[in-house]
Amino acid sequence: MNAHATPARVSDHPIDAMFLERHSPRAFTDRPMAEAELLTLLEAARWAPSAANHQPARFVWGLRGDAGFGRIAEALAPGNRVWAEKAAALVVVASKTVVERDGVRSALGTHAFDAGAAWMSLALQAHLKGWIAHAMGGFDKIKAAEALHMPADHELHAVVALGELGAPDLLPEAYRPREVPSGRVALSEIARRGSF
Ligand SMILES: Cc1cc2nc3c(=O)[nH]c(=O)nc-3n(C[C@H](O)[C@H](O)[C@H](O)COP(=O)(O)O)c2cc1C
Repeated sequence: MNAHATPARVSDHPIDAMFLERHSPRAFTDRPMAEAELLTLLEAARWAPSAANHQPARFVWGLRGDAGFGRIAEALAPGNRVWAEKAAALVVVASKTVVERDGVRSALGTHAFDAGAAWMSLALQAHLKGWIAHAMGGFDKIKAAEALHMPADHELHAVVALGELGAPDLLPEAYRPREVPSGRVALSEIARRGSF
């Protein structure tokens, strides 16, 4: 898998190759994903850390051909749908925004941070299994919430397209030049010793 070579990324400090090799292409082959393979990716997300182990991350998924996949795809922004509906699976990442303790409900301030950690675990597990995972914030949250019967105390974050990396020419022409791994700002711009 991942047969289409892309230019290598280089880190300033030594890190595991998986952090550099994971990226977000848009070209998918038509290879399907089995339910068991998707559950392995969600299982990795399940084991992500969360504040007080509240585990607020929630997922709704569909495999290409499912009615559920169609419901998720229909909520995507047109510029995402054109390539993401070719994915083998779509996963909606959400979180439960409240916790209940002794019958008392209170807001969970870390729900989005925790869901972010879960998505990254899913993405890295996907990469380790030879799949690509591409997160999208470009979707109609109201439409998705209605179509997926989302409870009121949940919040939507992203839709993740999963599949096997395909050749750029599977994409509409305008998308092909973007099939190159992106770079990053210098570490010194985002991490300071002692204070901001
Ligand atoms: C929360 C989130 C929302 C994103 N939304 C979109 C999107 O709507 N469409 C898209 O093509 N890519 C989207 N991306 C992909 C990012 O553009 C991509 O992760 C970023 O450019 C870094 O590239 P890399 O993932 O290849 O390292 C999103 C990524 C994240 C994490």
